[in-house]
Amino acid sequence: MSGPASRPSTGFVAWIEGLPCSGKTTLSRAVGEQLRDAGHKVEILDGDEVRQMFSPELGFSRKDREFHARRVSYVARMLARNDVAVMVAMITPYETSRQAARATVGERFTEIWLRCPVEVCRQRDPKGLYRGSPLVRGTKLTGVDDPFEEPLNPDLTVDTASGTIEGETRRIVEHLLQRGFVRPRSGG
Ligand SMILES: Nc1ncnc2c1ncn2[C@@H]1O[C@H](COP(=O)(O)OP(=O)(O)OP(=O)(O)O)[C@@H](O)[C@H]1O
Ligand SMILES: [Mg+2]
Repeated sequence: MSGPASRPSTGFVAWIEGLPCSGKTTLSRAVGEQLRDAGHKVEILDGDEVRQMFSPELGFSRKDREFHARRVSYVARMLARNDVAVMVAMITPYETSRQAARATVGERFTEIWLRCPVEVCRQRDPKGLYRGSPLVRGTKLTGVDDPFEEPLNPDLTVDTASGTIEGETRRIVEHLLQRGFVRPRSGG
């Protein structure tokens, strides 16, 4: 992806997907902090917040979820081409949405799957999402009463059930370094 003056952009999109409570918010913030320390401009497009702002009229059908993901990928692309390191922290239950996001952003895109069994997510549940029925929740919950398609083509898979937050953060930063998206820390 080229910037306005057709020099290579230093921005990129890390699309971080996984079940509710798999760690998307936690890890995107931790990675974002490290990237800021290394001098990157960082924006995190995080699930709930972005949904309220971008798509308040949409529900949680397949069609609506896919449409919302398209809006997010378009904005992520715009930020990335202006040198922003973009972290998208979104469940993204459908493979079609992931592929569409990759196609929208282009080369400077990486898909990171936070793999975590639903039982572990249920135990963590900091927002109480897994408690109660769909009626109580007011919406269907991915992994419980709505599907999560196993990602077919993630660039990185991180098992968030077994590791530590620090170790997982390091894994993701190393992956971004390997991809050439992130510059190594200068000095010490
Ligand atoms: N190894 C780990 N990796 C990630 N999160 C962990 C880990 N161990 C415990 N946790 C905890 O699991 C919870 C994950 O919640 P988080 O809000 O980050 O998930 P999420 O994927 O953003 O969920 P949602 O889709 O509901 O926004 C946090 O409370 C975090 O502290
Ligand atoms: Mg979250």
